[in-house]
Order: sequence, then structure tokens, then C-alpha cells
Amino acid sequence: MSIVEELEQLKVTALREIAEAADPAELDTVRVRYLGKKGQLTAVLRGLGSLTADERPAVGKVSNEVRAVLEEALSGRASELGEAVLRAKVAADAVDVSLPGRAHSPGHAHLISQITEQVVNVFIGLGYRVAEGPEVELDYYNFTALNHPPEHPARAATDTFYVRDLSVEGGSDAVESDVLLRTHTSPVQVRVLERQQPPVYIICPGQVYRRDIADPSHLPQFTQVEGLAVDEGITLGDLKGTLDHFVREIFGPDRRTRFRPHFFPFTEPSAEVDVSCGICGGSGCRFCKNTGWLEILGCGMVDPKVFGYVGIDPERYTGFAFGLGVERIAALKYNIPDVRMLLEGDMRFVRQF
Ligand code: PHE
Repeated sequence: MSIVEELEQLKVTALREIAEAADPAELDTVRVRYLGKKGQLTAVLRGLGSLTADERPAVGKVSNEVRAVLEEALSGRASELGEAVLRAKVAADAVDVSLPGRAHSPGHAHLISQITEQVVNVFIGLGYRVAEGPEVELDYYNFTALNHPPEHPARAATDTFYVRDLSVEGGSDAVESDVLLRTHTSPVQVRVLERQQPPVYIICPGQVYRRDIADPSHLPQFTQVEGLAVDEGITLGDLKGTLDHFVREIFGPDRRTRFRPHFFPFTEPSAEVDVSCGICGGSGCRFCKNTGWLEILGCGMVDPKVFGYVGIDPERYTGFAFGLGVERIAALKYNIPDVRMLLEGDMRFVRQF
């Protein structure tokens, strides 16, 4: 076989291999095999030296042509393969906009948080400001300045969680007031009045703690909202009007309220407020223990003794205060038979609100 025939044969084989290369790496192997330093075409060209001067030009011409043809075929195939790679990548990255989306189930505020916010918002709507105080509280703010005498039963260690127990020997060193978990949000009244002269209109949400065993209507930790209004000329009528408005906002326009005389050390006179039963409408049923009424909060006119503790002139100012339990309001609003359900975290319950 002459060198020219050999070159022709090499061209045919190389072109087939170029056409059959399946990816850029394989194509490069083919290129090296023919055009590389030790490639087959290169080898042929090296042999040119052993040809006669007559033969050389023809063979040189053909081999240059073969090289040119192979180079063109290589670059053609390279761009084909490049495109294929790109197309495969685009296909793999494609987003099918017609696929249904992944369903996310966003959480929502717990019923206790919802009711707390609703209650607070009713009073914000009346111009009250939100105030907060510590959950770990001094005996002074929780009891003393709220006119609880030293022997008041609520102070007993059986009713209140004490953080520092003064009865333990040495526990009273340099301690003026015992430290406890607040049993109500009323100490916030004292803390605010201590720093601010009237007019004062505040609403105070927060956690409170009592040594109660959890049962359908009690929790050892629960949420209270305290309200306080102190100004010139505040009357019991203002208290009743404000709470009537509050009850209608929270329970709806059909519910009625009733004020029952009661006692709290820090208000005088004091009352408990009942709302008409949402289940029987007032005629009496099991939920309201056949009374037609459900107790929802405690309230009263601020006792002048409390004003004495915080340096507010009781001749000039009067005020009212109230405190309600959020879990109880939630239970009465939605007819929840057991307040413990609010804290169990059972999603079948939680998702209903
Ligand atoms: N602090 C009282 C309680 O926890 C409720 C209350 C607040 C009563 C304000 C009167 C005035 O029972």
C-alpha cells in the first residue's frame, strides 16, 4: 500500500471514529490518537524524510489535506457534543411549572396567645398601654403593697411558690422581702403606679403561678390579664361600662354580664363578673352548673391603701382594676370542658382554633 493509500485509509478510519465519539473526552482520545505528538498522522509525516524528492510534494499535500479534514471533523463533532452536553444539562435543570407545589402547613398562634392578644387589643382600642412586670416577684409587690395582711392565707407556702424560703435558717440575711413566683398580675399595678402619676391606663398580660393541682378548671401556671385605670373622677360606673364593653367584644353582643359583690384586699368595693352561659343562654345547664352564669373575672375600685403605698393622692384620684384568666376565657368562649386540653399540645385540638 502506498503512503497516499495509507493516508486515505487513515482518514476514513479517523473520520468514522470522530463521528462515533460519544462525548468530549472520547473525542479527545481520538484526536490524540491521530493528531497527537505520537499520533498516527504525525507518524506518517515523520516518514516523509525517507521519500524521494519526487514523491514528497504529493504525499505532503495529501497529508496536509487529511490533517485539515480531520481537524475540521474534530471541531464539528466537538461543537455537536458540546451542544448535546448543554442540552442534557438544561433538560436536567428544567423546572416543570405545571407540577403541583409542595404543601407547607404554616403554624398559627396558640389559642391562649390569640385570646391574650384579643383581650389586650380591646383595651388598646380604649387607649390603654401595655405594661409588663417580672414573673419572679418580691413579696412586697405581690402581697404587701396590695394590702394583704401578713397572715393572709394566699401568702401560705401551700398556695404560693416561694423562690427563697425565709423560714430556712440563714435565709433571711439582709433580705427585706421574700422572693416568689407572682400569683397574679396585680403587682404590675404597684410597679407602674410607683413610677407614674395618673392618668394611668394600662393592660398587663403575663404568666402567673399558684400551688394548685391541675384539674378541669385549674392550672398551676396560667395567663392573666390585668387592667388598671387611675384618673380624676373614675367611678364604679366607669368600671361597669368598660367591662360590659369588653365582654361584648370578646363573647359577642348577645352575652349579658352580672356583677356580684366580692372581696379582694386591694380593691374596695370589689366584685366578680359573670357572663351569661353560652350553652344554655342563661336558662341553666351542666356547663354553668344550672346557674345560667359563668364567672370570668375579679375587679373593684382601687383601695386607697394601695395609693398610700405608691404615693398617689387618694383625695384627688380614684381608679378601678380588674384581672382575668385567659385560659378560663378561652374555655368559656369555645365551650372547652377541661383547661388542661389547652396545654397538652394535641394537634387535633390545637388546629381547631
Ligand atoms: N388579682 C386578682 C386575682 O388574681 C384579680 C383582681 C385583679 C381583682 C384586679 C381585682 C382587681 O384573683
